[in-house]
Amino acid sequence: MSQETWASVDRYLTEKIVKPDAVLDAALRESAKAGLPPISVSPPQGKLLQVLAMMQGSKRILEIGTLGGYSTIWLARGLSRGGRVITLELERSHAEIARKNLARAKLDKLVDIRVGMAIETLPKLLAEGEGPFDLVFLDADKPSNADYFAWALKLSRKGTLIVVDNVIRDGMVVDARSKDPNITGVRKLNEAIAREKRVVATTIQTVGGKGYDGFTVALVVD
Ligand code: SAH
Ligand code: DHB
Ligand code: MG
Repeated sequence: MSQETWASVDRYLTEKIVKPDAVLDAALRESAKAGLPPISVSPPQGKLLQVLAMMQGSKRILEIGTLGGYSTIWLARGLSRGGRVITLELERSHAEIARKNLARAKLDKLVDIRVGMAIETLPKLLAEGEGPFDLVFLDADKPSNADYFAWALKLSRKGTLIVVDNVIRDGMVVDARSKDPNITGVRKLNEAIAREKRVVATTIQTVGGKGYDGFTVALVVD
């Protein structure tokens, strides 16, 4: 099985199950035009985020790593009435594209984009009394994932779902000797999850248009 097969199956699933969507297509097109890297979640993955958000009956969603707001649109579409997304982004230029993409999707009033280092914004959210969140999506700089997971727990309640993107990385996650900070970051996150008694967690490997990677889901149970 090849990347070509995975990509064509992703296209088929997107056409059939996810359903074509002009606003999401525009978000990707405008992000590409602005020179953003093509690393948004895939359409089927995005819709999984929407489904998970709906299952959570989400009123408060936290995302770390906005990029052009593609995943943010999916998350915001999963909000229940009166709900809001807070999304954290380091790069002002990314946040600006995301703002336009969210406005086109008519979701800008439901989304608060906070520009800065997530590790500096997270304590501010806690101090402001934000949270607990119903769903937290970790998708920013991978070396910080264990720290973000700890913050996600601080901003959680019993029943919060924590979702993490890019946890398989072409299977390189099994390389204990890897010096790649993205891999050591995921492995450190996995150590933290393994130690953490407050979550029930699993990781699912995925293939698709973005290659071979995976999602971790961790449900806070205590
Ligand atoms: N969730 C997006 C993709 C995010 S890509 C989607 O699927 O559509 C990762 C994003 O995290 C990039 O925009 C990058 O600028 C941002 N990022 C990297 N380091 C960060 C940090 N320290 N704090 C906040 N955001 C960061
Ligand atoms: C990459 C992919 C992602 O989904 C992401 O959030 C960050 C980086 C990548 O392929 O490099
Ligand atoms: Mg990602």
